[in-house]
Amino acid sequence: MARYAYVNGRYVPHGEGAIHIEDRGFQFSDGVYEVVPIINDRLVDVGPHLDRLERSLSELQITPPVSRRVLELVMAELIARNGVSEGLIYMQVTRGVAPRDHKFPKGVSPTIVMTTKRVPFMSQKKLSDGVKVITIPDIRWTRCDIKTVSLLPNCMGKTKAAEAGAYEAWQVDGDGLITEGTSSNAWVVTADDKLLTRPVSHDILRGVTRQCLLDIAAEEGLAYEERAFSVETAKSAREAFTSSATSFVTPVVQIDDVRLGDGTPGPLSSRLQRWYLDYCAGRMRST
Ligand code: PDD
Repeated sequence: MARYAYVNGRYVPHGEGAIHIEDRGFQFSDGVYEVVPIINDRLVDVGPHLDRLERSLSELQITPPVSRRVLELVMAELIARNGVSEGLIYMQVTRGVAPRDHKFPKGVSPTIVMTTKRVPFMSQKKLSDGVKVITIPDIRWTRCDIKTVSLLPNCMGKTKAAEAGAYEAWQVDGDGLITEGTSSNAWVVTADDKLLTRPVSHDILRGVTRQCLLDIAAEEGLAYEERAFSVETAKSAREAFTSSATSFVTPVVQIDDVRLGDGTPGPLSSRLQRWYLDYCAGRMRST
């Protein structure tokens, strides 16, 4: 089946999608993005993802390219054209095209690009077996709450992880506290059985999956705390996992050289994973 991309109002064959060389996204990383999972032909949590897109645009004073309603129609059309029933839809919005000058130009039209990717999520071994993460210094800027396309530190961290045979790198701030993964939020179940994840601030992305998991935990009567935790706490944790639109709830079974528990996914991580996947699939959760 031919694969299409949506570029500034047109559906074009994926390989022919192009933007201008003076697009500020290319010249300055002056843009934002979103990633929404598709499971069983349904977009998962599209509302919160579009809320976050609007917030990211507003924080950078970029004009929304189209109304939310149009965005939703384009997403549905692209998914249908590309026949994606399980996978991801990506959208990048940049400030637009202008002669190269650092300061924000006035009166430019934003650029929008949308693409899809098929991913057989449910058969991924990482969900059942868990993964290793490494810890690295967080070298990013101080507005990590904005989902900008400026992802070079994240790419460097993820590459380091891959070189170490790990799935993800958890980034560590100047106080020795874990901020988040390079493309996911970080969670632990401490030695004294507390479910922890770092509170939202400018230091981390407000993960849509993270918030959904907090809502599920609250609904299921699971106690949790939004509290920053150290590398030491993580390494002595009973369990750990990482959450995102692309990894859902992925158990972490090793941090650097330290194996957690018996080196298999912990019971709470597995339970949250099952609840979350049921939620994504539009099924009722069951304990
Ligand atoms: N990344 N933190 C960072 C730095 C991220 O890039 C992401 C998502 C998350 C989790 O957010 P959410 O639960 O809304 O996906 C946390 C996406 C998946 C990506 O860049 O591909």
